[in-house]
Amino acid sequence: MINVGIIFGGRSGEHEVSLQSAYNVITAIERSKYEITLIGITREGRWSIYSGDVEKIKNDTWEEDPANSWDFSFTSDETFKKIDILFPVLHGTFGEDGTIQGLFEMLDKPYVGCGVLASSAAMDKDTAKRLFVSVDIPVTDWVIFTRNEILSDTDRCAGISEEHFGYPVFVKPANMGSSVGISKAHDRRELQEALKEAALYDIKILVEKAVNAHEVEIAVLGNTDIEVSCPGIIVPCHEFYDYEAKYLTGDDSKILIPAPIPEETAEQIKEYAKKAFAVVCGTGLSRIDFLVSKDTGNIYLNEINTLPGFTNISMYPQLWAASGVSYPELIEKIINLGFERYNQRRELRYVK
Ligand SMILES: Nc1ncnc2c1ncn2[C@@H]1O[C@H](COP(=O)(O)OP(=O)(O)O)[C@@H](O)[C@H]1O
Ligand SMILES: [Mg+2]
Repeated sequence: MINVGIIFGGRSGEHEVSLQSAYNVITAIERSKYEITLIGITREGRWSIYSGDVEKIKNDTWEEDPANSWDFSFTSDETFKKIDILFPVLHGTFGEDGTIQGLFEMLDKPYVGCGVLASSAAMDKDTAKRLFVSVDIPVTDWVIFTRNEILSDTDRCAGISEEHFGYPVFVKPANMGSSVGISKAHDRRELQEALKEAALYDIKILVEKAVNAHEVEIAVLGNTDIEVSCPGIIVPCHEFYDYEAKYLTGDDSKILIPAPIPEETAEQIKEYAKKAFAVVCGTGLSRIDFLVSKDTGNIYLNEINTLPGFTNISMYPQLWAASGVSYPELIEKIINLGFERYNQRRELRYVK
């Protein structure tokens, strides 16, 4: 039996989301094929091998459980050594951004999903946009400011943004997820607030033109031969798809699969998705999010999520379900892709 190390929690604004995603992966994974080892990471960054009740992960009470083995060693812990492949069900900082992938590489353990470069390139919204532009994938125009520029002269930054885009604009920390630190600004005062808010979360901040758009998302799966799902559409219950709309009042945001968009738009999106996954050097899986202008029909690639949500209301597993891939099958495919990537890289030489 293959032993899968499922990692959950993490030191990110999306800790709670990870708990829900992990719970779903744990309940869906086929137990006749896979043994699982659970590894929790607290919000403070403490690691544990968790052997308690899975419901406590869902309820966010696992940390208090005595069935935690804290501060285990990666190199000498027998339970950890038995893990055949690691499955980080983590989102955002320290989970989706290449840092934990770097740790897996150092430990020489197979793992699920994108490698170090793809994870970090996709996570940084500015870097990702530059890569998309390099292969002619349209993105919304943007400018960047550093945290220092914002803190020392917010007004000047707001003025530059105004000159470029007017209003409304979106302000985003470069390296976050789940809409944390993101605001839509409709005037100078809101823009200043938004810049300061975003500067709490990163040293690089993007301001981009707001598009009056449908949010169309698509799932990709693969290492070299990339499969794409049909696209789906999100109709947020708030003015934009903010953290609350995503996870708290999620039931009111609607998901439509397949997306009710023209066939040629869907085809174009599939093509862009494959190209985007390739240009960031993606492996395993990603969900790629687009904005489709309600006014012009223009398509913009908004972002690529290398460890998309697996919660009950998450798009990624729903997109595959609609394309005929069940939850347990999806997990199996993702795991197999992780082994495939590892084995391919094992053939590489690192010395002459
Ligand atoms: N340029 C834009 N125009 C219109 N809506 C946007 C734009 N950028 C972001 N949004 C809205 O904000 C949400 C979060 O932004 P996104 O870039 O996806 O960040 P995150 O990584 O936090 O998901 C999107 O789902 C969308 O609703
Ligand atoms: Mg998003």
